[in-house]
Amino acid sequence: MSQTLTGCPVDHRALQPNGCPVSARAAAFDPFGGSYQVDPAASLRWSRDEEPVFYSPEIGYWVVTRYEDVKAVFRDNILFSPSIALEKITPVSDEATATLAKYDYAMARTLVNEDEPAHMPRRRVLMDPFTPKELVHHEPMVRRLTREYVDRFVDTGRVDLVDEMLWEVPLTVALHFLGVPEEDMDTMREYSIAHTVNTWGRPAPEEQVAVAEAVGKFWQYAGQVLEKMRQDPSGHGWMPYGIRVQQEQPEVVTDSYLHSMMMAGIVAAHETTANASANAFRLLLENRSVWEELCADPGLISGAVEECLRHSGSVAAWRRLVTADTTIGGVDIPAGSKLLIATSSANRDDRHFEGADDFDIRRENASDHLTFGFGGHQCLGKNLARMEMQIFLEELTTRLPHLELVPDQEFTYLPNTSFRGPDHVWVHWDPAENPERRDPALLGKRHPVTIGEPSKAAVSRTVTVDAITPAADGVVRVTLSDPSGRPLPRWTPGSHIDVDLGELSRQYSLCGDPNDLSVYEIAVLEEPESRGGSRYVHHTLQAGDTLTMRGPRNHFRLDADAERYVFVAGGIGITPVLAMADHVKSAGKDYEIHYCGRDVTTMALLDRVGTDHGDRLVVHSSAAGNRLDIPALLAEPVAGTQIYSCGPERLLAALEEATAHWPEDSLHVEHFTSNLTTLDPANEHSFEVELRDSGLTVTVAADQTVLDALRASNIDIQSDCEEGLCGSCEAPVLDGEVDHRDVVLTKTERAQNKSMMTCCSRACGSKLTLAL
Ligand code: HEM
Ligand code: FES
Repeated sequence: MSQTLTGCPVDHRALQPNGCPVSARAAAFDPFGGSYQVDPAASLRWSRDEEPVFYSPEIGYWVVTRYEDVKAVFRDNILFSPSIALEKITPVSDEATATLAKYDYAMARTLVNEDEPAHMPRRRVLMDPFTPKELVHHEPMVRRLTREYVDRFVDTGRVDLVDEMLWEVPLTVALHFLGVPEEDMDTMREYSIAHTVNTWGRPAPEEQVAVAEAVGKFWQYAGQVLEKMRQDPSGHGWMPYGIRVQQEQPEVVTDSYLHSMMMAGIVAAHETTANASANAFRLLLENRSVWEELCADPGLISGAVEECLRHSGSVAAWRRLVTADTTIGGVDIPAGSKLLIATSSANRDDRHFEGADDFDIRRENASDHLTFGFGGHQCLGKNLARMEMQIFLEELTTRLPHLELVPDQEFTYLPNTSFRGPDHVWVHWDPAENPERRDPALLGKRHPVTIGEPSKAAVSRTVTVDAITPAADGVVRVTLSDPSGRPLPRWTPGSHIDVDLGELSRQYSLCGDPNDLSVYEIAVLEEPESRGGSRYVHHTLQAGDTLTMRGPRNHFRLDADAERYVFVAGGIGITPVLAMADHVKSAGKDYEIHYCGRDVTTMALLDRVGTDHGDRLVVHSSAAGNRLDIPALLAEPVAGTQIYSCGPERLLAALEEATAHWPEDSLHVEHFTSNLTTLDPANEHSFEVELRDSGLTVTVAADQTVLDALRASNIDIQSDCEEGLCGSCEAPVLDGEVDHRDVVLTKTERAQNKSMMTCCSRACGSKLTLAL
């Protein structure tokens, strides 16, 4: 069904007499106004919670706001074409079109809005300058430029960071990256600034012609610079590289493409990074204690950059065109519909990020954000942008740690749907206090930039051990808190943390009270086969010691909508189950807990479970001869009941078997041991992995995991445990038989061969094809 800008896309004949299904809030959604401009994620909270896919008559787009839905749209660039990504939301006036024609303006598709099959071959041959090994060479240039700009204002005491640095440095970096000759930089900078102004908003009709003039001039000048490069294409930079590729593959990299890319490349690299940096400075200076932490420890900067990109990214939403009738988040969407996929909202979805509105620079999964998009079109320049932002922060935290936001300033934003950053960020400081006046040597020291996602160290936090108390025979309860008394990050039932214990890192479920963020509580069982982790906790660790940890993360989420819950805990598997039971009890839901163990003396936290859940608890102890009869317990499927279990493999396997006749997705399990042994290259074979979306074929060596091989090829893939336990590294399989080694997939899922855990599973044969 076709749509007009304001028309409703739903067939009203099929509706109830009370009319249009566009809710009042959906009808009131205004991406050019008020609350969306101030904080797009907050302004769409109602949608994430109540109506995650809605039609906006104001813009004639369907708006998608939840993490999983936005990611799924990005992933499928055939069903959801990127062709409208750069289309002006406001149609161009005839006069402006005529002005552009005067300059022979012929902007064609570039990469970001190019459909398959043209896009991938082009992306593939042009990727090399973006790889980490090539990006290293740009670091000195970015640092030099940043320092030059800081030198200009460091002694002034007051500056608008956007005007004096954050707008121009990313532009100049982009020009260098593209390889624009020095003598053309000033003119290119001038034209491109004119071009980016008003690209995404609603220019008044009289402004449109002025914009078109500037764009026309920019187009012509870009053509001239390109011609100059062609005469000597041996230079550095992405454009000379593209010209060299064109000489070998003219049908893949065409003339029109190169000309368009010259302009589009600047826009892609400039405004996005400038806005992201301005958002980051605002956010960090508003959270003064975090700013001070960065000043004290530059090792935290890469994690802070990632969290700023998640919490307050510069791309608030992106666009796709639906090419066939489909369903998103349960809503039928007809072919031809336009989608506004709200990355800013997805990045603050509590279903994916714990305490998603909180700003936490050590958030372990911050890099799951969708600010750079996802899938086959994911931003190629992401690591250059990350590098720039790290350098800006490092220079200013070192040279102006006493920097403060000018109080009471109002932050304004160019009204538009997609790009977001404050027009100005005014800051002030006392130049007499500049540390370089006392210690000029600090100008010489710098922390190395991280190319790519933040390292584990950057997202680790230190916690103090408050107490270690017995919780059963062989089990201790450990309480942890922040050394400076700050609240710990929020968590939800089922969450775990990763704790470093000597050389090892171990995962423990949180079992305390999620409403009390002054303390975390875990229970640790001393394993007879311990490789050192649990033995260390039981025999060496003492109250008052400190530990490093990461997280919390949750791969074992509770479905809050179920009517009734059956919890089955085996031994120390009581820890996540207890937090879940506490939650459903306070929500007033129906539940029962089956707690199984060898003997009541070895069953952790039994007192507490008994006190808090007495009449709902059934204790099964093999010593007392009352083992749980799983087949009897689950003989009859009960509608609306969800079963959650954590425990040893035998228990989980028995539950899987006993629920085979239950509705799909009734059973949720968490494994606490991995079957994995260390990769033994002598017993493995190497194989190929074809990545259908990316158009790449990657070889996985015998001593490498699929995950490692993907990352070496610049394919971002999430991971957590890297032991086949958590499911975060899952990838969809299209072809080839998988040798599954994880404990996440059920028997049925393995047999279906539709997905694999890339951290551990391998190919049975010589090739796998993945939808990545
Ligand atoms: C694509 C965001 C910086 C070059 C994209 C896309 C987004 C994005 C949302 C579309 C992704 C998709 O459709 O899945 C950003 C942000 C940046 C940034 C937030 C800064 C914080 C850069 C830089 C460069 C760059 C510095 C170049 C040096 C590109 C290119 C594409 C792209 C070439 C098209 C890739 C393709 O379609 O295959 N970017 N970008 N970006 N970006 Fe960036
Ligand atoms: Fe946890 Fe692969 S990273 S299963």
